Amino acid sequence: MNDAAATKNELRSAPHGVEAGALVIPPRLAQLWKRGADFLGCPISILAGAMSWVSERHLVAAISNAGGFGVIACGAMTPALLDTEIKATRALTKKPFGVNLITMHPQLMELVDVCQGNGVTHVVFAGGVPPGDAIKKAKTFAKVLCFAPAVVLAKRLIKNGADALVIEGSEAGGHIGPVSTSVLAQEILPAIRDVPVFVAGGIGRGEAIVSFLEMGAAGVQMGTRFVCASESIAHPKFKQAFIRAAAREAVTSVQLDKRLPVIPVRALANQGTELFMETQRKVLDKFVKGEVDQQAAQLEIEHFWAGALRRAVIDGDVEFGSMMAGQSVGMVTREEPVTAIMAELIAQAGEALAARGG
Ligand SMILES: Cc1cc2nc3c(=O)[nH]c(=O)nc-3n(C[C@H](O)[C@H](O)[C@H](O)COP(=O)(O)O)c2cc1C
Repeated sequence: MNDAAATKNELRSAPHGVEAGALVIPPRLAQLWKRGADFLGCPISILAGAMSWVSERHLVAAISNAGGFGVIACGAMTPALLDTEIKATRALTKKPFGVNLITMHPQLMELVDVCQGNGVTHVVFAGGVPPGDAIKKAKTFAKVLCFAPAVVLAKRLIKNGADALVIEGSEAGGHIGPVSTSVLAQEILPAIRDVPVFVAGGIGRGEAIVSFLEMGAAGVQMGTRFVCASESIAHPKFKQAFIRAAAREAVTSVQLDKRLPVIPVRALANQGTELFMETQRKVLDKFVKGEVDQQAAQLEIEHFWAGALRRAVIDGDVEFGSMMAGQSVGMVTREEPVTAIMAELIAQAGEALAARGG
């Protein structure tokens, strides 16, 4: 029996709802996110969005063990490191989990091979439209999820073989697009019925989960809300910064000049943010004076944040590291186990549904 089947067998219909370990999911909620839960093979249709350095074996296993869907962030890992991480995660959970691969990784196809070798059931392609052959290969052994930033692309991705989509609004932490979650949801959810769609970006409470499910989402993806889970290996200083921060402190990186493009990233503002502006000013100055060409200037700007997320998450450099965080950071108020976070979200969702008479 595979993991997904095992999980389904563990789901017991109880008179008061569906039991997921210690948690009981209200029947109406279980019904609303059934399509997503069936697709993921777990009782709680909440994906913990892959977060580089944060989403490793401990957090991923804790999420899946709690009934949600953990996703390993491959980030810049080599195939050998990913192989180790998948095996280590599997040693901590028998439940299904996914692997998030960044499409511009130079060894993308080898990473897909590693997923295949380990019997990974769900592959998430992030960071741009994945090459057709990567989707094709991943589909031979797993379900494939892709990020859709617009309706046209959503339809193209489904045509290319995506089994499910994630739509992520600009409220999210990390690399973001220009459109908010509420607008993306209104544009994409009514237009896409063929595959399950998971909504991400700015979701911090159960009421919001219910709203998106009622609009047609199969489930949600959340990142920021799980950073301060007790099982997350993020540095205590990184967690403290999240607990202290308000929504307005999670800001997008600013591009100084369109000749030197900056990919927008949402993160907590710190001294690194200031220094980044200063660096852009200096590089732009050199470029305008003809001391460096556009390519060299662009590279210097891109290199500024290299290794910065690791420095913040692992080393606790909250002053100069990259403090990627979504606007839902204001709803992160304490360090607590994943099961407590899930229980709170489910309780909020249940209360919202009860208030509707559901
Ligand atoms: C610290 C951090 C690192 C992230 N790293 C990645 C990543 O490596 N790959 C990816 O696809 N998304 C990444 N994300 C985005 C999350 O997977 C998720 O989609 C996002 O956090 C959802 O929005 P929320 O932060 O409002 O919950 C990251 C987000 C954060 C906060």
